[in-house]
Amino acid sequence: MRITVVGTGYVGLVTGTCFAETGNDVVCVDIDDNKVSKLSNGEITIYEPGLEKLFIRNLKEGRLSFTTDLQAGIQDAKIIFLALPTPPGEDGSADLKYILGVAADLGKILNEYVVVVDKSTVPVGTAEKVHAAIAKNYTGEFDVVSNPEFLREGVAVDDFMKPDRVVIGTSSERAKKVMNELYAPFVRSGNPVIFMDERSAELTKYAANSFLATKISFMNEIAQLCERLGADVDMVRLGMGSDERIGKRFLFPGIGYGGSCFPKDVQALVKSAKEVDYDFSILNSVVRVNETQKKHLIPKMKRHFNNTMQGKHIAIWGLAFKPNTDDIREAPALYVIEDLLEAGCTVCVFDPEAMGNVKNLLKDKVQYAESQYDAIQGADALVIATEWNEFRTPDFIKMVKGMKHKAIFDGRNLFDMNAITELGFHYECIGKGIAQKTNHQI
Ligand SMILES: NC(=O)c1ccc[n+]([C@@H]2O[C@H](COP(=O)([O-])OP(=O)(O)OC[C@H]3O[C@@H](n4cnc5c(N)ncnc54)[C@H](O)[C@@H]3O)[C@@H](O)[C@H]2O)c1
Repeated sequence: MRITVVGTGYVGLVTGTCFAETGNDVVCVDIDDNKVSKLSNGEITIYEPGLEKLFIRNLKEGRLSFTTDLQAGIQDAKIIFLALPTPPGEDGSADLKYILGVAADLGKILNEYVVVVDKSTVPVGTAEKVHAAIAKNYTGEFDVVSNPEFLREGVAVDDFMKPDRVVIGTSSERAKKVMNELYAPFVRSGNPVIFMDERSAELTKYAANSFLATKISFMNEIAQLCERLGADVDMVRLGMGSDERIGKRFLFPGIGYGGSCFPKDVQALVKSAKEVDYDFSILNSVVRVNETQKKHLIPKMKRHFNNTMQGKHIAIWGLAFKPNTDDIREAPALYVIEDLLEAGCTVCVFDPEAMGNVKNLLKDKVQYAESQYDAIQGADALVIATEWNEFRTPDFIKMVKGMKHKAIFDGRNLFDMNAITELGFHYECIGKGIAQKTNHQI
């Protein structure tokens, strides 16, 4: 099937590549010349495990191509996916200018029946708006379908190739048939394609992300309580998570959720609720808890250094908003860095994949290390902000030798408290009241 994907970012590139992998002929369109030229020349533009191999194979076999020309890109397409940004506007609502702009452009150039698919995360009612924007200039037949994407960066290829479910919102039997055919190779093992109306599909995506964000904020509040009550959040997590009704996943406390989705999607749902006179009070709290949690390590550090942070040299391990991606949008590490710089510290950072993106953003405000051990040389403290696997079992001897002052502030609970304190480190993490007591005793 001939498919066009408009927007070739984290979602668009994975979507396009995976559809090409199942034998479709895919053209990806993007307005970014530089991105299109790199991709056309076989240079992948994001770090996503497993993607490069599929990208190169499909590019070489001619099933995947890239262009900046929308009109050429949609030639003979049966389906046009919109994988465009939906960033938060000033009031928190999703900004639809990219989606509606492309929809208006499509209206001027469509010439036969096509299924236009909203893959971006968009508020309820967007399919109708996209339909209207196209219909303004195009009187031929077409359908607009909502097909929200649930992939997670870091495991996006697996998520796309073997989705837990595919949600498709459409009231058109014709579009349903086309979408069924397209997704058939991805659901062979029985994972469901769930058909529903457009509005329910649009809301499903926001509901899913907001629920997951709620789980994280809930555990972060439990962690806060653990610190005050002398309990250990990791024990509580294990005890809770073994209940099948609760489940083990998404119960990890930390320094807040980040990324390009949760913060903006929770905000957008709050805003959508407000527009229909509903106060989504749980989600307001979820946002508030997350804002507090992002700052949670700083007071611990200030306490440790007796409020004299000025001139301290701090190493940061992990900059991406989560492991296995180079994406730093709304990354908790960035908030920690901002606070440290404001407190007068110097900062040296390391991340296995996100260094390029951070350099573009922070320029010379921080120092950039070649390796995790390079980062800690002469440091007064180490902050762990992202749980990359390579940080889990580091060479502690090297760390002891390299650091000026053996203090670790771990936002991801990577180490065993007893083992690390035995090595002589001052160690603080999230939600370990027992440890706090021990530190006071020391
Ligand atoms: N990143 C994720 O993990 C994820 C997961 C599920 C859903 N989503 C949703 O998918 C959508 C896209 O997210 P993303 O992370 O891929 O964004 P992104 O910023 O990585 O990619 C968007 C791409 O669209 C391009 N673009 C902008 N305007 C354009 C235009 N007029 N014509 C063609 N291309 C244009 C940009 O140059 C960019 O390459 C968002 O709505 C997001 O909420 C993202």
